[in-house]
Amino acid sequence: MSGHTDMVLVNDDGIRIDGRKCDEKRPIKIEAGVLKNADGSCYLEIGKNKVLCAVYGPRECRPKHMQDPTKAVIQVRYNMQAYSVSDRKRPGTDRRSVEISKLISEALSSVVMTELYPRASIDVYIEILQANAGTRCAGLSAASVALADAGIPMRDLVPAIACGKADGHVVLDLNKEEDNYGQADVPLAIIPSTDEIVLLQMDGNMTREELDRGLDMAFGAAHELNEIQRDALKRRYTEKASKEASE
Ligand code: CDP
Repeated sequence: MSGHTDMVLVNDDGIRIDGRKCDEKRPIKIEAGVLKNADGSCYLEIGKNKVLCAVYGPRECRPKHMQDPTKAVIQVRYNMQAYSVSDRKRPGTDRRSVEISKLISEALSSVVMTELYPRASIDVYIEILQANAGTRCAGLSAASVALADAGIPMRDLVPAIACGKADGHVVLDLNKEEDNYGQADVPLAIIPSTDEIVLLQMDGNMTREELDRGLDMAFGAAHELNEIQRDALKRRYTEKASKEASE
């Protein structure tokens, strides 16, 4: 988010470098139940982002001192693969991945019925295979589908998408260039049935009016993303049911 570049991010016709209009999100693909040995899983693409999520649990929480006698804890590990970015990323945990894991865990805790599983742990592994800005949103969107695929009781899914500002334009779902050289990045995650916000961050600067317009776009896009999440789960259940019927 430096805001300084000679690169034109939005041209005179209002078209962005990847051909999108300002209020257009990137193409999204979601598939539930892609891993045989996890309790639940999801593969998600949004633009050039590629994310794999695996869920285990509820199972006994280890280490024991992490247990909560009143509810399950959601342990998230967001991990960016070394090959996911253009400059090889040093493998392993860093401050950024710890922060993102924590905020994804908190967002998921708003929808998962953790009170049903005291002392248990629900473990969520998010692997960023390819990154192009918006990976915390992609990871969170994939994680809620993987949790539903694991059959874990939830109040709703959590679609997440960013809005922001590039070349003075309010834009939806920033790509890497817009994230690097634009003026603001605002990731948002919501509970669609109530329109409650479970994640909202802001990096950069926008006027209040611009932020209002950006959030309107992001809320609309989050609802559309939610439909794609639900379709992925419906396809998964239909496949499961027809497989069981033929056995
Ligand atoms: O991915 P997200 O937008 O949630 O988080 P960010 O910290 O704003 O990172 C924006 C983008 O920068 C990532 O999606 C990656 O494409 C890139 N990045 C990178 O190239 N190397 C890193 N070590 C971290 C991020």
